[in-house]
Amino acid sequence: MSADISTRIIGTGKYKADGVLTNFDLEKMVDTSDQWITERTGISERRVASKGIATSDMAAEAVRSALNMAGKTANDLDMIICGTVTGDMPLPATAALIQQKIGASNMCASFDVSAACAGFIYGLSVADAFIKTGKAKNIAVIGAEMLTRFMDFEDRNTCVLFGDGAGAVIVTADNSSRGILSTHLFTDSSLTGALQIPGGGSLYPASEKTISSKRHYIKMEGREVFKVAVKYLADAAEVAIRSNGVTVDDIDVVAAHQANMRILSAVSKRVNIPIEKFALNLRYYGNTSSASIPISLDEAVRGGKVSDNNLVLMIALGGGISWGSALIKW
Ligand code: ACO
Repeated sequence: MSADISTRIIGTGKYKADGVLTNFDLEKMVDTSDQWITERTGISERRVASKGIATSDMAAEAVRSALNMAGKTANDLDMIICGTVTGDMPLPATAALIQQKIGASNMCASFDVSAACAGFIYGLSVADAFIKTGKAKNIAVIGAEMLTRFMDFEDRNTCVLFGDGAGAVIVTADNSSRGILSTHLFTDSSLTGALQIPGGGSLYPASEKTISSKRHYIKMEGREVFKVAVKYLADAAEVAIRSNGVTVDDIDVVAAHQANMRILSAVSKRVNIPIEKFALNLRYYGNTSSASIPISLDEAVRGGKVSDNNLVLMIALGGGISWGSALIKW
């Protein structure tokens, strides 16, 4: 790693899916209520992508917007990294389809990162390593998910939680003191069964049986995930703060993965960072998995919540269980 190179975020963008599915709509589909969903999760509505739109379409739109803010073109990119577990298809990588859709004709390396809701932070960490080792100059890092296409709308345990969307950032090699200060990544494989889309892979290849037994839908042991989420997210925040020699008071903005408002409130109390510092949009988007951080970051940046030299803390946790943090001097 070169001490002189920093990795700066110079553009952000998002794709907001057209459709809106409210808690009241869900009341008509499964045995649930607006009150239960709001009190247990903090979600009032979620976005649903229109028929014919694929994950790469949402991602491409987010990248175009981020490139525009960065003052760069698609051919300036020398890498495209897409965090997703709901790509267009198992093969090729969604990042390759994004390259095609944004018109990057320079054959830049394009690949996906699979870390569920932590996919964006994992992708950002990979991008940071390529930039700091001098192997890349401009990288698009994306979080894009279309979880509603993997949802059993007869299962109230999951169908009330998730939404569709995409967010992206452009990172560039810079020689200022601003940029990514650290990233930390973790996985606890004892909980691989707590969050799965079990069917359609090599273990249970797609068949009539996998379809009839609904293995192509997301399965979640919500209570098990909840138990570890607060501890692991708080730990990830603390390691980012400690390893950079800063204090919680120095943190200006928290861009956290948003799965459940109760998880975020508990993390906020545990690490002692006021919830007002969190960039929140869970109420209107639901859990958009890897897209949640870059979407809320884009809204915070464009809404004036993030200023130059602010310290921005990112924390995320998802299936794997994989989680991590990033600390950025904006
Ligand atoms: N409406 C009404 N009742 C419901 C609903 C619903 N939509 N869903 C569950 N219930 C019922 C349950 O059946 C249960 O009933 P019972 O007591 O009769 O058995 C009761 O409500 C309580 O269920 P719990 O699962 O204990 O509810 P909890 O308070 O834990 O909330 C939730 C569930 C929202 C899923 C929560 O556990 C959670 O947020 N977990 C973490 C999710 C997460 O962080 N995921 C990680 C990222 S996702 C990714 O990586 C793709």
